[in-house]
Amino acid sequence: MIPVCEPALDGREMEYVRECIETSWISSAGKFITLFEKKFSEYCGAPHGVACSSGTTAIHLALEALGIGPGDEVIIPDFTLIVSANMVILAGAKPVLVDVDARTWCIDPSKIEQKITPKTKAIMAVHMYGHPCHMDRINEIARRHNLYVIEDCAEAHGAEVNGVRVGALSDVACFSFYGNKILTTGEGGMCVCKDDEIARRMRLLCNQGFGEPRFVHQVVGYNYRLTNVQAAIGLAQTEMVSEKVQKKRWIGQKYNELLADWPYVTLPVEEPWAKNVYWMYGIVIKPDLGLTKDEVMTKLREKGVDTRSFFCPMSLQPAYKGNDHRFPDISGSYPVSVDLWNSGLYLPSGLPLTEEQINTVVEKLRELKQ
Ligand SMILES: Cc1ncc(COP(=O)(O)O)c(C=O)c1O
Repeated sequence: MIPVCEPALDGREMEYVRECIETSWISSAGKFITLFEKKFSEYCGAPHGVACSSGTTAIHLALEALGIGPGDEVIIPDFTLIVSANMVILAGAKPVLVDVDARTWCIDPSKIEQKITPKTKAIMAVHMYGHPCHMDRINEIARRHNLYVIEDCAEAHGAEVNGVRVGALSDVACFSFYGNKILTTGEGGMCVCKDDEIARRMRLLCNQGFGEPRFVHQVVGYNYRLTNVQAAIGLAQTEMVSEKVQKKRWIGQKYNELLADWPYVTLPVEEPWAKNVYWMYGIVIKPDLGLTKDEVMTKLREKGVDTRSFFCPMSLQPAYKGNDHRFPDISGSYPVSVDLWNSGLYLPSGLPLTEEQINTVVEKLRELKQ
């Protein structure tokens, strides 16, 4: 079976982890945390990096540090991982859904303004499957309406908008280092930002609100800390980020070439203003193929190729049915995100993927209709 994703631990991970164990610095203090925060935030072009336990907790920290809470609304894409909506709810605010763009699969800037109300405090831009959101348009809307912008960069380490890396295009950017991400620490996350005070608040919230004197707490905080062992892996991964991004783009371009003349799927795009890092190589099945997404996934599995479905939109989540005032209003129409759910899936895209494996994946896919 060609797996849909595998991590690549081909740098100095072992050496750095061994150092943690040999020196007993295995908990959430230690030099690798500082080094990882510094190296990764520098890569993003932002002065602050606050490491935390996951991409999920990074989003929660960002929302709380920006002061978003009860009575506030946050605009998010309908097509995203449920984490986006759940963290807005956890912060006490209400997620407001906007459909995505049919080309980039990211939040559609032309549909944002109609969802802005006096309660709106922020726009959460989720970069999907490696393609960045149109941040120039989103930031322009946010400026006019005096809103914060949060980037969710979980799927887009190294992606760019007009030559600027994601992570430096918003008030706070949140990264995930889960096992299937472009950089991984097993589980882990980081908030990256420019503002000193926002960084200070995120650091405080991440560590139970510990301040001076110790055990006297000014805020309600959390234990969202990353360990030195995870940061050791993260530092080794960050040292190789350029190679990893280059490999992802190579995989994306190989699939593009091999599938360009097969008319039964829509391929991912790279807009002229964007650098797509093809975190996962997504395709959308066209009706002419005569097979559903589930049928395609089952047939490919039988042929030894693992795939994953695209996300289920927030507007279709059973978890948000019911009259809870915290939940997003799911009564609207989100045709693009529903279509992506019905017909979208991604092909094997892991960093260790070989050219031979890519050829096999495409061969097996093309066998479905010749
Ligand atoms: C868009 C998006 N946001 C947030 C997350 C959450 O990250 P984590 O799994 O590290 O909590 C993920 C992925 O897992 C994601 O794909």
